[in-house]
Amino acid sequence: MSTEKALAHFAAHQGDYLDDLKTLVRVPSVSFPGFDAANVRASATATAKLLRSRGFKNVQLLEVAGAHPYVYGEILDQPGRPTVLLYAHHDVQPAGDESAWASPPFEPVERKGPPDQAPRLYGRGAADDKAGIVVHSSAVESWLKAGGLPLNVKLIVEGEEEIGSAHLSAFLKQNAQLLKADAIILTDTANFETGLPSITTALRGLVTVDVEVRALKQSVHSGMWGGPVPDPVSGLCKMLAALTHADGSIAIPGILDKVKPLTGPERKSISALPGDEAHFRKQVGLLDGVQLLGGRHPWETNWRHPSLAVNAIQASSRKDARNIICESAWARVGIRIVPDLDPLDVQAKLVDALTKGVPWGLEVHLHADQAVGWWYTDSSAPAFQAAFRALKKGYGTEAVAIGAGGSIPFVEPFARELGGVPALLIGVEDPYTNAHSENESLHLGDWEKSVKSAIHLYAELAEALGKTSR
Ligand code: BES
Ligand code: MN
Ligand code: MN
Repeated sequence: MSTEKALAHFAAHQGDYLDDLKTLVRVPSVSFPGFDAANVRASATATAKLLRSRGFKNVQLLEVAGAHPYVYGEILDQPGRPTVLLYAHHDVQPAGDESAWASPPFEPVERKGPPDQAPRLYGRGAADDKAGIVVHSSAVESWLKAGGLPLNVKLIVEGEEEIGSAHLSAFLKQNAQLLKADAIILTDTANFETGLPSITTALRGLVTVDVEVRALKQSVHSGMWGGPVPDPVSGLCKMLAALTHADGSIAIPGILDKVKPLTGPERKSISALPGDEAHFRKQVGLLDGVQLLGGRHPWETNWRHPSLAVNAIQASSRKDARNIICESAWARVGIRIVPDLDPLDVQAKLVDALTKGVPWGLEVHLHADQAVGWWYTDSSAPAFQAAFRALKKGYGTEAVAIGAGGSIPFVEPFARELGGVPALLIGVEDPYTNAHSENESLHLGDWEKSVKSAIHLYAELAEALGKTSR
């Protein structure tokens, strides 16, 4: 009954909610070092203002020393009913190559796009993850306008997710009591395909290391000095190349042997998904002739096996390329990790492999940066069945359970701290979103279905989680 009212309210005010999203996208909340932290703070303030306007109470910025601000809000007016903790993040990745954007990254623009030439909202953070914030706030306000929520909600909007959530454990310690809940709902993942609702039950972890090698006090003429003087760029390339085998798999000793094999049912559930190699190639935009690596189902490789990427490499520049031996060369290396790999152990092994690989006595500087664990959940709790039902109602099609190649540092420690409560990862992105890349966008049809599903989900969870309240 009131679910219908909430849905009707959303249908009548969808344009206003989309404007909420556009307001947030206009704030360039890049959390990376080297970008103005004041913008992340402005984004936290804008998020807080939005939450207040949509009916959240006790809205505040939660501060942890050294971290970009978190935003908190709650509506706890259903004593005796369950409480859910909603999560999203308001920080974003850097825009990348601005000239590769068809419209400026921080000016939200609606236009049609792939895969179905349906309307999309373009802009950095339009999907990852400002869409997540607005899914939560729109669904919550729709219930409030329909007469009241069927359960209690708390909402956390993080400000440092995209840089690895280094202050998460301090934040947890500081706010453990405040954040108590019976389930967590995250809107920060992707659907398996546009229009196909998906519940993510596994995330990979991530470790990153920066490496720099130096040969000279300054760059020198490559003709005058080349030969006796080792080239640090070639040296770094050798070090990086040695990290993987010819087939792309990780060559660092002691990493692959800890990978937990899939069970029969896990492998079966992947092959039952509506996607094959050709589909995977199309989703990611792989060029003709470029091989798919792994030698197994591409999603199995992506979700359940470690992978290594050199995220950035620097020595001189394309514009300044001239006849020199560079004085130094720098790279950032990332390894995605899976069950049962330990993040600090993998990071130490990566540092060790790079250290041992340095040729010609080059001076080497290593900086171990992020170390985030993987997450995996059993999905048999009643809350998951409630989520499947809600997604079917919201999207009009049966949901699938999937893994993910990406990482969200918040999930594992929070679910653990809350005593193993169900964590429901329900995405609003589609595979054509281009998160972290240029021309990021949100499929507006899926955004609408996502809010509808969230409205249904609160009603379903109020039932499924029973009467336990904290
Ligand atoms: N929303 C993503 C994570 C994601 C994307 C999970 C798609 C599942 C499917 C998140 O914002 C993200 O990008 N996380 C970082 C975490 C890192 C900084 C530790 C990532 O995966 O690179
Ligand atoms: Mn995200
Ligand atoms: Mn992201």
